[in-house]
Amino acid sequence: MSKGKLQKFAEMETFKNVFQYPYSVIENVPFEMKGKWREEYFHNQNPIVLELGCGKGEYTVGLALMFPDVNFIGVDIKGARMHTGAKQALEEGLQNAAFLRTNIEIIDRFFAPGEVQEIWLTFSDPQMKNPRKRLSSTYFMERYRRFLVDGGLVHLKTDSNFLFTYTRLMVEKNALPVLMQTEDLYHDQSLDDDTRSILSIHTYYENQWIDRGLNIKYLKFRLPAAGTLEESDVEIPLDEYRSYKRTKRSGKDSAK
Ligand SMILES: C[S@@+](CC[C@H](N)C(=O)[O-])C[C@H]1O[C@@H](n2cnc3c(N)ncnc32)[C@H](O)[C@@H]1O
Repeated sequence: MSKGKLQKFAEMETFKNVFQYPYSVIENVPFEMKGKWREEYFHNQNPIVLELGCGKGEYTVGLALMFPDVNFIGVDIKGARMHTGAKQALEEGLQNAAFLRTNIEIIDRFFAPGEVQEIWLTFSDPQMKNPRKRLSSTYFMERYRRFLVDGGLVHLKTDSNFLFTYTRLMVEKNALPVLMQTEDLYHDQSLDDDTRSILSIHTYYENQWIDRGLNIKYLKFRLPAAGTLEESDVEIPLDEYRSYKRTKRSGKDSAK
């Protein structure tokens, strides 16, 4: 591991806004703050919004700056990436932003029923070969339902036609209410000013895809608590610009 990464990990241990609980740590120890994030960490009763697969946490920090009366938590397994957002949040003095380093597969161990209002999925790996690892699959939706309020919002922002189409089909199949969808966010004239400003936060991965000339897609839908969720069986064309190897990044314990 590089010296830079080691230094970031050492610093992260001292950050008051970072909670590090990968599989190995949480396996035998319950997360004491489950159901108590507002009382014990944020010290307010404001809504909680998660950014899952936050990377450097651009949305967590950007939205926390825009909405001081909402609490944001960025979740990722990669500590070196998270370090960027966590440090920025500390430097900005943001009381309404936190970071949780863990595997999203076990995200329901950290939040109690109804504790979270919204979820952002920002440039998630499409996982074209492995639906079980796809963060917008019904497998993950079932997990999110365990702590999301009934009808809570899910936002998907992506470059990937595969992931966008997959998620749209999943939403259609299960008749989940769609609030907004666009396949070319930055050329969509129908956006109101507030939506445009929220969606103008660019992430690290997003900038790379924009530089390669890809359209950014966005889907916002509600996830009701009741009803069985089913996968769509429609075949989806794969993204040609991605190799399967690239999608193999996973949230394993050892990933830093
Ligand atoms: C393509 S990156 C996007 C990062 C950031 N949102 C951005 O747009 O720059 C996907 C991120 O999701 C994280 N991730 C993917 N699957 C995960 C899982 N199961 N548990 C935790 N993190 C995961 C990866 O570690 C990675 O940082």
